[in-house]
Amino acid sequence: MDFNFTPDQLDLQKMVKDFVAKEITPHALEMDKEGVVPPDLWKKLDEAGLLNLTVPEEYDGPGLDALSIALIYEELGKGCAGVATTTAANALASYPVVLLGTDAQKRKMFDVINNGKLAAFALTEPGAGSDAGAVATTAVKDGDNYIINGTKCFITNGGIADIYIIFANTRKTAGIRGLTAFIVERDTPGFSVGKEEEKMGIRASNTCELVLENVCIPAANRIGREGEGFKIAMKTLDAARPFVGAVSVGLAQAAFELAVKYSKERVQFDKPIASFQLVQAMLADMAMQIEAARLLVYKACWLKDQGVSYTKESAIAKCFAADTAMKVTTDAVQVLGGYGYSKEYPAEKYMRDAKIMQIYEGTNQIQRLVIANNILY
Ligand code: CAA
Ligand code: FAD
Repeated sequence: MDFNFTPDQLDLQKMVKDFVAKEITPHALEMDKEGVVPPDLWKKLDEAGLLNLTVPEEYDGPGLDALSIALIYEELGKGCAGVATTTAANALASYPVVLLGTDAQKRKMFDVINNGKLAAFALTEPGAGSDAGAVATTAVKDGDNYIINGTKCFITNGGIADIYIIFANTRKTAGIRGLTAFIVERDTPGFSVGKEEEKMGIRASNTCELVLENVCIPAANRIGREGEGFKIAMKTLDAARPFVGAVSVGLAQAAFELAVKYSKERVQFDKPIASFQLVQAMLADMAMQIEAARLLVYKACWLKDQGVSYTKESAIAKCFAADTAMKVTTDAVQVLGGYGYSKEYPAEKYMRDAKIMQIYEGTNQIQRLVIANNILY
């Protein structure tokens, strides 16, 4: 077993660490307050090569392995989980095309994200959250086209993307087996962005409803075969869930570092609070949980890079790291006491940001179902 990173991975990690320290961390509280990522940061993220991480080399992308991508998301998660979520949505949306896209589909999708623009992955609907197979959006074949009708909700980058992966049902009576994946471009007539969500955390990220009214797209935009959409969605989520884990690890690490620093500086009863064993126990638990979460995330990515099955490990990594982020950020607020609850310090932002890690890309209850299914059947 080798716990060393390659020189390329170390260089990449350092580059992103420096980028985050300069361009993201100093602006994270402002982005949280305003609820947007400023346009000049998009430009810088693009110039740093952080928007097209999953694009293969033959399509002018960096051709990175999953472990390298996880290292990047961990660093981005330390700076701002909202920014990390927005960039990770590009990776999520690109996977259906990476997995099964034709050459033309790859060029269409990768041209967008190679050029500093955003993509979105639209599976969830008002009636289809955890039960992803219950998608009610329909796609009806009409000659060489499909006509799509329906509503998607909670879509990351929904209001600011140029290209979308839309899951729709091509055979209503077939349930899960009727789901099909399509590429829909933003300027297609009938496609519109609905309400934007006002959120508890990851406020820099954009989350919107999408409305599709008689959206006509060429059949050439269908990814894979009719009815293959559910498996495409599941394989995409297998690939992407460890990255939620990586963002969670980064977020937890940032909260932990703040708690350690504060505990050494804050004096009560004439001693730094770090000298109290009950505070030390919280710090020790944080360190243990972060280390375990990090190793689970790296292992899931390593398995993917080996080309072996990793559905269970992907769910374990996402679930454990998200629970870790929630626990560690909550305890970081506790270590800072009243100052942890105040907006004067970023601890409360970390705690608000951590909650979504247990909800999106499949709730942690769903991850436990996936893990159990893989153990039992
Ligand atoms: N890989 C390949 N195939 C898979 C698979 C996987 N990981 N998981 C399931 N399948 C296949 C099964 O083998 C089965 O195939 P057959 O019918 O041929 O046997 C089929 O899919 C149906 O599987 P299940 O019976 O397990 O399906 P289910 O209805 O019980 O649902 C579920 C399974 C795990 C609950 C799934 O619905 C799920 O993951 N739900 C959560 C939805 C989710 O994660 N949404 C995230 C949206 S994106 C997002 O949130 C992004 C963001 O925030 C930025
Ligand atoms: P529900 O499915 O209604 O779940 C409610 C509760 O019931 C949860 O606690 C859940 O765990 C529990 N539950 C449900 N079914 C079961 C079961 N079988 N066993 C045990 N417990 C169960 N979706 C996208 O497609 N693309 C995106 O880009 C995207 N981005 C998002 C960004 C944000 C900020 C948010 C909030 C959501 C986003 N989502 C996105 C949607 C997200 O994936 C769903 O919210 C999530 O899958 C849960 O679905 P739901 O909200 O409908 O909750």
